[in-house]
Amino acid sequence: MEHAGESHSREHTFDKDYWERHWQERGTDPAATPGAAPNPHVVRETAGLVPGTALDAGCGTGTEALWLAARGWRVVGADISAAALAEASAQTAARSLAGSVSWVEADLVSWAPEQQFDLVVASYAHPAIPQLAFYRHISEWVAPGGTLLIVGHLHAHSASHRHGDAGQRPPIEATAGPEGITAQLDSAQWKIITAEEQSSTPPGHRGGNAPVLNDVVVRAVRQS
Ligand SMILES: C[S@@+](CC[C@H](N)C(=O)[O-])C[C@H]1O[C@@H](n2cnc3c(N)ncnc32)[C@H](O)[C@@H]1O
Repeated sequence: MEHAGESHSREHTFDKDYWERHWQERGTDPAATPGAAPNPHVVRETAGLVPGTALDAGCGTGTEALWLAARGWRVVGADISAAALAEASAQTAARSLAGSVSWVEADLVSWAPEQQFDLVVASYAHPAIPQLAFYRHISEWVAPGGTLLIVGHLHAHSASHRHGDAGQRPPIEATAGPEGITAQLDSAQWKIITAEEQSSTPPGHRGGNAPVLNDVVVRAVRQS
């Protein structure tokens, strides 16, 4: 049985070509201004953390990575899209944050970082592999005592969510609920701090016609 939104997901594979096109087209979308406010879930969930090293996995144009860097984190922003990282790099220079953030163009499915991180963030990152496998993969990059923070799309209730193209819901395979995500994390090794569904309005939108983002937020601390 086909659910609404699935036809969108079958039109592409979330490979590098898809994401390069996505970021090149977003350049003409005034709602996608680089330097926009950071994701409110990232702001809230990292507020009490002591800054250290951080990886923003699938950082896009770097909004969250730059926000973390401005708050004392030493950040690596990694993304498969050269177009997104070119914008991130320009923003870095404009904000004089070059000493705190570096950008890596990489396919995170095959990339292996040289170090583990005190914080690994994935905010709406969805690659060509199954979403839960991606979360499990990046969880291995969290250092003992460090934090994994996942902000993802929820498909089920996202009737008005924009995802690149006007009016389309996030593709179903790019979504995962809190239970599915936390099930990827070995309970002997991880302490779950946050696992919930949240809604928010994107920055810059107000009033009755504002789109509603329905998200999943999971924060977990690696014990060992
Ligand atoms: C919806 S955007 C989210 C960007 C940003 N984190 C945000 O919250 O606005 C998803 C990002 O994941 C990146 N991405 C997708 N697959 C990837 C992969 N295999 N390796 C690295 N980045 C990937 C895309 O290029 C894109 O920038």
